[in-house]
Amino acid sequence: MIALCGGVVGDITGFAAATFLRGVSLCQIPTTLLAQVDSSVGGKTGVDLPEGKNLVGAFYQPRLVLIDPNVLASLPDSTFADGMAEVVKYGYISNRDILTKVSQPDYKSNIENIIYECVKIKRDVVAIDEHDTGLRMILNFGHTIGHAAEKLGNYTDLTHGQAVAIGMVAAMRLSALLGNEDLTAPLIDLLKHIGLPTELNYDREAIFNALLSDKKKFGATVNFILVREAGRAEITPIDAEKLHEDVLKL
Ligand SMILES: NC(=O)c1ccc[n+]([C@@H]2O[C@H](COP(=O)([O-])OP(=O)(O)OC[C@H]3O[C@@H](n4cnc5c(N)ncnc54)[C@H](O)[C@@H]3O)[C@@H](O)[C@H]2O)c1
Repeated sequence: MIALCGGVVGDITGFAAATFLRGVSLCQIPTTLLAQVDSSVGGKTGVDLPEGKNLVGAFYQPRLVLIDPNVLASLPDSTFADGMAEVVKYGYISNRDILTKVSQPDYKSNIENIIYECVKIKRDVVAIDEHDTGLRMILNFGHTIGHAAEKLGNYTDLTHGQAVAIGMVAAMRLSALLGNEDLTAPLIDLLKHIGLPTELNYDREAIFNALLSDKKKFGATVNFILVREAGRAEITPIDAEKLHEDVLKL
């Protein structure tokens, strides 16, 4: 099976390839920035249920991922910006040089190199932890609250990229509430420069309840990805009660 489109087609085709005849070979040809820097690489496939995002899925590696940045020329600006949310994520969790590149006025002219740097990070993380039991969780920076916001918006009010942008800002605020250096302001400036939203416009109690149903919650703690400094993040288990108090302050 060949998945030729953005992340949605990639995830569905990947899941079909993983399950049809108990597995047929898969090729990903991502045509959105988000799919090129993130969803086509690493073998996560899945579909959403009304109860939550990606609740049905499989880990299934493609035989080939073919990335051609030239196809991005036809993307609407907002869809390009969605992919930049994941680019910013890579910068904050692993490589601050990416943030410097993105902050340039003409960053789009450097997109081939930016895609290369992002895919390299994802490849290296997945090579260490394919099944998301350790290091790979670091790629979820911004996604825990982002997924909750996507769910509250019935998967239509926000795109995945927009939800990740909002989720990263909320995670950064949470990090400051837990006593880390407050890196929220430069993140907001960068997201605005790209054209991404930064405000979490949902009831905080509803956000907390939605994130408790996220699959990254284990027992009484929720694994949060907190950025210690630009380019370095840590997986931090937070007690659910403490998290509840802090989410209400966001
Ligand atoms: N599997 C993973 O690891 C992973 C990681 C991140 C995100 N995702 C998933 O990816 C999805 C989002 O992917 P997306 O942002 O690519 O959105 P998308 O797949 O919905 O694509 C956005 C739009 O762009 C159009 N399009 C695609 N290529 C185009 C091109 N070259 N020119 C013009 N239009 C084009 C599509 O038809 C669609 O309308 C979400 O469902 C998210 O959960 C999965």
